[in-house]
Amino acid sequence: MTIRSAEPGDAAGMGRVAREIAAATGRTRPCGVDYMLSHYIHHPDRILCSVAVDADGTILGFQSLKLAPAGNSNGVAEGWGMIGTHISPQAARRGIGKALFAETLAAARQAGVERIDATIGAANIGGLAYYEAMGFRTYRGNQSAVCKVFEVGAA
Ligand SMILES: CC(C)(COP(=O)(O)OP(=O)(O)OC[C@H]1O[C@@H](n2cnc3c(N)ncnc32)[C@H](O)[C@@H]1OP(=O)(O)O)[C@@H](O)C(=O)NCCC(=O)NCCS
Repeated sequence: MTIRSAEPGDAAGMGRVAREIAAATGRTRPCGVDYMLSHYIHHPDRILCSVAVDADGTILGFQSLKLAPAGNSNGVAEGWGMIGTHISPQAARRGIGKALFAETLAAARQAGVERIDATIGAANIGGLAYYEAMGFRTYRGNQSAVCKVFEVGAA
């Protein structure tokens, strides 16, 4: 398994991962190639979008870090990072999420980002546990979503 920056040719594989997650969890989400390109790969606020790739080239998962713009719809403070993680259910609990976050954290430091927000569905037990294990801590939330923050700090 290798981790590298996402390229336009990865959009179909990223969409497949999103579809596999939707099928396994029942949480519907956009999965199309155009969405992967516009929302992740070519997004103007992208700091880093990494893919985890198997030896045969199969995309196993991806993680996105964006810079929160002023007035963003998630209510995240301007200048914070905003993270999203998507690992194929077939590849879960193999350390892929952890490996992706090591790259994301390095990119956040390089970009001078001091805090990273993760907004997670309140019922998403696995997602909450993953971000907690990576060092994120809850700072706000409501009945439907929990927001956790990672303090980037010094290397
Ligand atoms: C949640 C998710 C990102 C975890 O990715 P992963 O590659 O399986 O995570 P890792 O194998 O790197 O796990 C690292 C640690 O996180 C915690 N963790 C991860 N998934 C967990 C789960 N389902 N239940 C409990 N703890 C979990 C564990 O502490 C784990 O360490 P361990 O396996 O040594 O116990 C992945 O399951 C996923 O993409 N889920 C669907 C989408 C999603 O919920 N995204 C995040 C919220 S928006």
